[in-house]
Amino acid sequence: MSLAEKLLKTALERVKNNSQITGDLFPNYSDTTEYNLNENNNWVAGFWTGMLWLAYAQTGDTGLRDCAINLLPSFEKRLDENIHINHDMGFLFMLSARAQSALANDPDAAALTMRSADVLLNRFRQKGQYIQAWGPVGEDRRGGQMIMDTMMNLPLLFWASKHTGNPGYAEIALKHAKTMAKYNIRPDGSTYHTFFFDQETGDPLRGETHQGAADESMWARGQAWGVCGYAMAAQLASESPDSAFFVETARKLAQKFMAELPADDVPPWDFWLPDGWPNHRDSSAGSIALVGMLRLAQIDPDNVAEYNGYAQRLFNGLAEHCWDSRPDAQGLLLHGASHVPKKLWMDSYLIYGDFFMLEALLMLTGNQVDLWVTG
Ligand code: GLY
Repeated sequence: MSLAEKLLKTALERVKNNSQITGDLFPNYSDTTEYNLNENNNWVAGFWTGMLWLAYAQTGDTGLRDCAINLLPSFEKRLDENIHINHDMGFLFMLSARAQSALANDPDAAALTMRSADVLLNRFRQKGQYIQAWGPVGEDRRGGQMIMDTMMNLPLLFWASKHTGNPGYAEIALKHAKTMAKYNIRPDGSTYHTFFFDQETGDPLRGETHQGAADESMWARGQAWGVCGYAMAAQLASESPDSAFFVETARKLAQKFMAELPADDVPPWDFWLPDGWPNHRDSSAGSIALVGMLRLAQIDPDNVAEYNGYAQRLFNGLAEHCWDSRPDAQGLLLHGASHVPKKLWMDSYLIYGDFFMLEALLMLTGNQVDLWVTG
């Protein structure tokens, strides 16, 4: 059995064990071997249902499927009651409602996914041509802000076009991805986490960080969202002339990510840390980038060896330095950094780091379950 196969087996066992104690709640973060459990009221809820669907697809264990199905009403409630609703519709609904529509053949879940796609679509700002990340549409400051993480929510818009036959959703995704490539990516392939526009004129203003150490630093998870997000955009737009540009963009971000990676192959939370900041690792940036590299290998056949080499390094770094091998561990990856400037979960389990690790393990062992791009 390869190392990836061994880790996959353990990961599936942990998802199963966790599913027996989580009930109506969602594992989010932890600094111990036990995940804390929260209500469905933040941006990370979909990663737990996503792990359940990945594990169900791999094992056929209907207990996992039923655990995910039991949680879907809480996602509907998010929309009904406007609970923390913003650009994160893809993270929340692709990994819950859309997965349920595909893997449990549930048309009501598809209808709910469409509701979430309309929410995302309506956050598109004509002036500036970007999807507003946070806050009510048109809000004073945040109305002018887009963030790299949104690249990961675009698969929802591509799905909506496919589902309805209306190209308008995918067109907005393409516009946002092109605007973001123009402004959030610096000439050297590093990225700004966020970028601001003048909402009146649509004129570009400036790059700023939100979760990184400084406006001109390189927040590792933002860079990883970019690698994976542009790789998925290239896959989803494979029939459009934009696909080659998205491959080129993802490749540039991937090469920069790898060029900055330290010798242990685990990303620091920010690659360009100014003096005085704590030097935590961020394993979630590693697992997200790992999935991005594996997707790039699928969409850019001329450079497969290069991406596979990157993936191998990232996998080895995570397996050697971050995998939680304690027998009572509920999580997969130690050393995730959620929000260092706010001092939140800085050396912890992060459910999204674990989701992407499980996705990567399935891909590495030839068992890919794609909740984002296919179907
Ligand atoms: N999307 C928020 C984060 O990556 O922390």
